[in-house]
Amino acid sequence: MSTRRKSIVAGNWKMNLDAAKARSLTEAVAARAGEAANVDLVLCPPALYATTVAAALGLAAGSSPSGVAPSGVALGGQNSHDKESGAFTGEVAPGMLRDIGSRYCILGHSERRTLFGETDKVVNAKVKAVLATGLTPIVCVGESLEERESGRTEAVVTEQVLGSLAGISADDLAKIVVAYEPVWAIGTGKVATPQQAQDVHALVRSLLARLSSPTVADKIRIQYGGSVKPDNAAELAACPDIDGALVGGASLKADDFLAIAKAFG
Ligand code: PGA
Repeated sequence: MSTRRKSIVAGNWKMNLDAAKARSLTEAVAARAGEAANVDLVLCPPALYATTVAAALGLAAGSSPSGVAPSGVALGGQNSHDKESGAFTGEVAPGMLRDIGSRYCILGHSERRTLFGETDKVVNAKVKAVLATGLTPIVCVGESLEERESGRTEAVVTEQVLGSLAGISADDLAKIVVAYEPVWAIGTGKVATPQQAQDVHALVRSLLARLSSPTVADKIRIQYGGSVKPDNAAELAACPDIDGALVGGASLKADDFLAIAKAFG
């Protein structure tokens, strides 16, 4: 972790929990957020429970994205549409996420890309819409096992970064968070080695520099995601270009999520 960048650890709850569990998990994290005071903490619940989580964090409806919850824990979406309103049954608009107090939104998660057909072009439109709404996109990239084994990691990640972030100004790029999540490490218990992760993080930062400038790229936080657990977080946190974690399974337990966050503090 660079001393110049504040780490950011986000919990991606995916399609898990119920309203009561979402509330109690939020309360447990918020009560102990001070243990990771040097880290930006974000909870990304299922959209239907976002207001429950917002209330448990003390976020008022209509609060601005720059408003910090009393708990110090921020709220994030797991996905967003790229339009502000309209006939898009089942979708959530960026402004709706902001309206309930969200500050972040995960975009282009590999599950969205592989299960819901999101291309770099789709992700790019969402990134632009989310930025325009004043939220911080957490833009996910990462190669599949087959792509890694056939030596295509660099090419795949390069295409995803350049495609997902095409046409975004340096000023806006400075606001985003990137998450490198090798698909083969997500939910498999098979974490990337610190060296594997660091190598791709360095590549992502060089691509961000190409899209903006080395000064801007140096400020952008790049999270690692994929089977991050309390017992492997510290070695990932020690890598110079790893500035936090996007945590799936382990974010469903307050103890584990906070232990990971503390490793990045
Ligand atoms: P995992 O998921 O921590 O359960 O591997 C990470 C993610 O998909 O963001």
